[in-house]
Amino acid sequence: MNNAIILAAGQGKRMKSQTSKVLHKVGNKYLLQHVVDVAKNHVEKMNIIVGHNSQSVKSAITESKINWVLQEKQLGTGHAVKQAIPFIEENSICLILYADVPLLQSKTIEELLKKARTNGFSLLSVVLNDPFGYGRIIRDTNGLIKSIVEQKDASETDLKIKEINTGIMALKGSLLKKYLNELKTNNAQGEFYLTDIVEIAVKDNVNIASFICESADEVMGINDKKQLSQAERLYQMKQAENFMSSGLTLMDPSRFDCRGNLKFGDDCTIDINVVFEGDNVLGNNVLISPNCIIKDSKIGDNAVILPNSIIENSTIGSSTSIGPFARIRPDTTIGNHSKVGNFVEIKKSSVSNNSKISHLSYVGDSKIGSDVNIGAGVITCNYDGSNKHQTEIKDGAFIGSNSQLVAPVSIGKNATIGAGSTITQNAPDNKLTVSRNKQSTIDKWKRPQKK
Ligand code: UD1
Ligand code: CA
Repeated sequence: MNNAIILAAGQGKRMKSQTSKVLHKVGNKYLLQHVVDVAKNHVEKMNIIVGHNSQSVKSAITESKINWVLQEKQLGTGHAVKQAIPFIEENSICLILYADVPLLQSKTIEELLKKARTNGFSLLSVVLNDPFGYGRIIRDTNGLIKSIVEQKDASETDLKIKEINTGIMALKGSLLKKYLNELKTNNAQGEFYLTDIVEIAVKDNVNIASFICESADEVMGINDKKQLSQAERLYQMKQAENFMSSGLTLMDPSRFDCRGNLKFGDDCTIDINVVFEGDNVLGNNVLISPNCIIKDSKIGDNAVILPNSIIENSTIGSSTSIGPFARIRPDTTIGNHSKVGNFVEIKKSSVSNNSKISHLSYVGDSKIGSDVNIGAGVITCNYDGSNKHQTEIKDGAFIGSNSQLVAPVSIGKNATIGAGSTITQNAPDNKLTVSRNKQSTIDKWKRPQKK
């Protein structure tokens, strides 16, 4: 049986924020949620140590395996882990993780746990060019781990060591319990250092299994906004690489952002500066042009999303084209072989197959059939100042440019609406309906002269 202890009680002063550090986000997901998600497949129970802003942290994170543990005063990492001791079983393997190290990979955890099962204790370190600030790994003449010395307690010689403690370790519950009781605060910070259990274990003849992480990125800690932005880029690049290896074409992976989940078929292409949010699904051969934002949407085969378009919580049919500069607002469904052109806004509406709304229109709360053509500048007037009303446009209708359809209103099958009409009553099938003044010419009219 494995369990985890995740340290999340610190304030994170260097973030200079009202929000708890562990509730900052990478890929629009809380730092702590990243750690929970990677750990949950490896452990039966997660004990999360909270202190600062504990209520908001608890309510933000969702996972059934969590046991929240309060550390009232932050007296050090050793003291933090100690709070979870009542929940740790003697013969379990206990994995210690940090809520501000969100990029840790599943296979690293697996390896660390495996080594802990064999040796009783395993420790994850990494070699850094600039080890400043971290605890240094001290090894004996045989290269075995001897102890960890914190930056503030280190001697000149220790400070030259480039192998540092990631903080992440795994060990038997019985050993953890025993060694935590021996911690003292006789150090530069007057804290209970978790790292001191390494030296105590070595004195107890435990052979600590060393695991040197190949990637410094994976174990980077987030302490300030600069590191947060670095973690975001690393996360996005890793995700982009995974997508590319599954066949997604990215014009520039460094200008690609997916803040959520993306599924895609074959031969999809994503141009630069596209942001995906939430859960999105692309069919086969979809093209997303530059500067689009796609959120919680489904886009069909062969669809083309032209530049600068925004699609939110909507479904786009196959072989349909959207944009440039289109805004598809929530609860919209566009059918197959349809077209939504530039400066068109559609909200809470359905548009069936082979229909066109090519330029400068607002369509809200509407049901639009197939083979409908909506001219430039058409507006569905869905709001009377108090309530929203529905517009229906049946199959084959043609709405002339610059018309207003004052809802509730229905336009019949194959009906034609003359350009510039304000339609306030239902228009019948197959007929032309116009509502504009007759054109007249005034013969004797003269243009005024400038005085
Ligand atoms: C710690 C390690 C150091 C390691 C570094 C890696 C110790 C003594 N030092 O140092 O060897 O190189 O991590 O990043 O462990 N926390 C609590 N309660 C506390 C204190 C801390 O929950 O009382 C949490 C913090 O919120 C944070 C984590 O523990 O998530 C690490 O604490 P921090 O003070 O940042 O440790 P470092 O000084 O970075
Ligand atoms: Ca500290």
